[in-house]
Amino acid sequence: MLLLSLVMMVWACGQTSRSTSSGQDDEIEKILSGLSLEEKVGQMTNLTLTTIASDDNPDRAIVLDSAKMHDVFIKYHVGSLQNVMSGAYGFEQWRTLIQSLQDYTLQKTRHKIPFLYAIDAVHGANYLLGGTQFPHNLGLAATRNVRLVESAAKITAAETRASGIRYNFSPVLDVGRNQQWSRLGETFGEDTYMVREFGKASIRGYEGDSQVNTAHVAACMKHYIGYSVPENGKDRAPAYIPEIVLREYFLPQFQDAVNMGARTLMVNSGEVNGVPVHASKFLLTDVLRGELGFEGMVITDWQDILKMHERHLVASSHKEAVYLAVEAGIDMCIVPFDFRFTEDLIELVQEGRISESRIDASVRRILTLKKQVGLFENPNVELDLATYFANPEYKEVALQAARESLVLLKNEEGTLPLSRNQKVLLTGPTANTVTALHGAWSYTWQGYKEALYPDEIKTIKDALPAAQYVPSIEFHEKEEKVFDLNQVLRAARNSDVIVLCLGEISYAETPGNIPDLAFPENQKELIAKLSQTGKPIVVVLLEGRPRIIREIEPMMDGLVAGFWPGSQGAQAVADVLYGDFNPSGKLPITYPRYSGTLSTYDHKRLDEAAEIDDPYKYYYEFKPQYEFGHGLSYTSFEYGQVNVNADTITSDLKVSISITNTGDRAGQEVVSLYTRDHYASITPSVRRLRRFVKIDLKPGETREIDFTLTKADVSFVNQQLKTVFEEGHFDIMIGPGLKTVYWK
Ligand code: BGC
Repeated sequence: MLLLSLVMMVWACGQTSRSTSSGQDDEIEKILSGLSLEEKVGQMTNLTLTTIASDDNPDRAIVLDSAKMHDVFIKYHVGSLQNVMSGAYGFEQWRTLIQSLQDYTLQKTRHKIPFLYAIDAVHGANYLLGGTQFPHNLGLAATRNVRLVESAAKITAAETRASGIRYNFSPVLDVGRNQQWSRLGETFGEDTYMVREFGKASIRGYEGDSQVNTAHVAACMKHYIGYSVPENGKDRAPAYIPEIVLREYFLPQFQDAVNMGARTLMVNSGEVNGVPVHASKFLLTDVLRGELGFEGMVITDWQDILKMHERHLVASSHKEAVYLAVEAGIDMCIVPFDFRFTEDLIELVQEGRISESRIDASVRRILTLKKQVGLFENPNVELDLATYFANPEYKEVALQAARESLVLLKNEEGTLPLSRNQKVLLTGPTANTVTALHGAWSYTWQGYKEALYPDEIKTIKDALPAAQYVPSIEFHEKEEKVFDLNQVLRAARNSDVIVLCLGEISYAETPGNIPDLAFPENQKELIAKLSQTGKPIVVVLLEGRPRIIREIEPMMDGLVAGFWPGSQGAQAVADVLYGDFNPSGKLPITYPRYSGTLSTYDHKRLDEAAEIDDPYKYYYEFKPQYEFGHGLSYTSFEYGQVNVNADTITSDLKVSISITNTGDRAGQEVVSLYTRDHYASITPSVRRLRRFVKIDLKPGETREIDFTLTKADVSFVNQQLKTVFEEGHFDIMIGPGLKTVYWK
């Protein structure tokens, strides 16, 4: 509570006016009317920092190149830049860079339109040295703590804005329904309702309630739409999503974000049903603008116009690709290395293939965004915001988020928490590295450049100083170093318990592609050898997606999973292992048992059909390694009966239940409400999450929880692609309890 209120104080400051692009804004119209075609197209162009600077000197100081700056800002009138070169920069370095570029724009360009800088601050200010790094979204979703997620986003916004940047390419609203996809860790998990709730919390945190005031940044809901379910499990591979599925699972979170006023949207780099989303007028204009009512700015993803020509093969030239994307509905293009987009678009307008009014519509939205983030009012780096950077309170929030994100998956009688009297052997590839705690987008895009991480960030080895650390396998950047295992085995025999840290080397996007979810062989061999010592083994598993542990899980006495828990992750692991924090994380995904069976929790009944006996007797089974929502605690909770306002209901359903902490430790419990529709015109899912709330309970304490569901909550997309409510029986399920109601 204290933390949250401190965090809230930070953004009670000056505000800039909010304008929408629907009502005419005279200031913007005036600027627009004075711009040449070239200047307008320049506003639609977004380039990366390398186009004007270099940082390849030993101290990584950014060196601006005046000839390149002239080309970018004067010749091509480029209105926005983004990203880093070799990695994160310090606070003052960012401020100086942004201010120099802004000075240049304001002094040398004809209209002095402030330029806009954008960054991927996707799990905290991850490109800012000394900035706070939270768990990635998958870890945040494991916390089931909406307020914490909002706080993390607020802190991210405050630090980003203080560093001079007012536009953040976050949050990811993709639903993580393919466990092999290398960006699963960036999602809020496999459930649409969770993505909706955490997505809204993030946008609130980034943008503030209604104003992008001086502690906030413009958010970017991404990646619209259908990116997260590539058919072959690889990044940017084709997805095939029937419209009924697209509308049921992938669209609602974008509708919510639009309703909240999220300022911008980034397009999915991939293709859906054979059409690159960047070329889909249906998705980018008819659905997004027409149905969802989005008025903000649409930005492409990285190089995606070029890719329509070179990779998707739907455009026979770069220019055709520009035509397709602009006509489909994009406003700004992350080109990001050259001026081809700019030149081709100018030609297309001059040839009369694209109208200037179409260009005006995009530029109007871009100028509106610049105004909304306060650049017209004050284009300069806001020096007085320095206190928003590296506030010690932020670390506490990051620590709390990391703790709550850890999921205790297994705890054989008495293994955890550890006692301080036990002799602990610590080993394994993720024990002595900070990179596996952070994952993607951490100081660098891929996150594995150890040298860029600040010294104060702890590894698990640092956080467990009393344990004896003996290296077995170590991750160094992208490589593995393998040590003499005899020494490890000797130490194991001498210990009371082994803490074995396993998992993945950090990766992001396409470099993170894997052929299947198989667990690394050498790590499997390591645990197999250690298990022969007969000592209890507690595994700490750090990963961005669920690698298959079926064969080695029986060797684990305790298992704590962390999904890229961030800069306080090591301390959080130590706190959970020793019981200084009672774990409360819940799986945000289904942990699969087999690489070939990747169902989500809300699958259909036929997904469970396992076997058939003559004559036509089916057996149903759903047996993942661990179910969505699974997560143990060091205390125990007892659920009362599920109570409803009536057995037959005609309007809202009111549900209540009591929960008691029956153990002897304080703990947090996530109370989740699922529904199951008995019969429906579209095959119902076995269950769908409709509500969740996280509560604190002292030993012996009981709390009554109330939920209200409306018909909209149990509606679904039907064959006519309409979202409908169908009368019938519904099971209402909370914990072990179930109550059936008739809803009409
Ligand atoms: C990613 C986006 C990111 C963009 C800009 C792309 O490769 O797909 O999520 O925002 O790069 O860095």
